[in-house]
Amino acid sequence: MARKLTSDARAPGSFAGETVTRRRLMTGSAGVAGAIASAAVALPALGFAIGPVFDRQPALWQDIGPVAQFADGTYIPVTITIAPGIGEAGKSIAYVRRRNEAIDGPPKDRYDEVVAISSRCVHVGCPVRFVAPASAFVCPCHGGVYNFLGVRIGGPPPRPLDRFYTLIRDGRVLLGPRYSVNDELRRFAPRDPGEPLDGIGQFLYPARFSTPPAPHG
Ligand code: FES
Repeated sequence: MARKLTSDARAPGSFAGETVTRRRLMTGSAGVAGAIASAAVALPALGFAIGPVFDRQPALWQDIGPVAQFADGTYIPVTITIAPGIGEAGKSIAYVRRRNEAIDGPPKDRYDEVVAISSRCVHVGCPVRFVAPASAFVCPCHGGVYNFLGVRIGGPPPRPLDRFYTLIRDGRVLLGPRYSVNDELRRFAPRDPGEPLDGIGQFLYPARFSTPPAPHG
């Protein structure tokens, strides 16, 4: 039976009857070596870039003062740490008050006795300010307005202001991980600004893998 030859088997310099010419072998080897070299450079860089996405952050609980210092009819701004270890850049403001059942209804659980609202606007992240005479949160950037509960009542923000889990322990308030809410104030894992949570939005914008776990019990 005749041996099967490559198309360039009779190229100058080839041996009679060889099935893979040296030229093709060298070309293939160079291609494989190039692919290995590229992967050696690209894979560590890719891992470095997307690794933090899968690196789940531990829940951070911080003492923000005695529960007695908070009223149930207005908010007090409290400086909190949202990214430890980077100094002032890791600090933010939370607006905090005791729960008022006439306004808020019964607490969902023990992490809901104190209301703590994030000052980061959920449009593109500008700091909002609580305006007591208007009982509203106002964003200076694009005119976003939220009511006393942090629910959007005007402007471009796509959902209510985010909140923080809180816990009362030994008469002091501990502030825990951030969470997002939809218009019914149902809790969701924290989302980024610009991500709606009502309707199909909750599926189109899933939470990051690095989100700290919600407290239990
Ligand atoms: S960032 Fe607040 S309305 Fe745009």
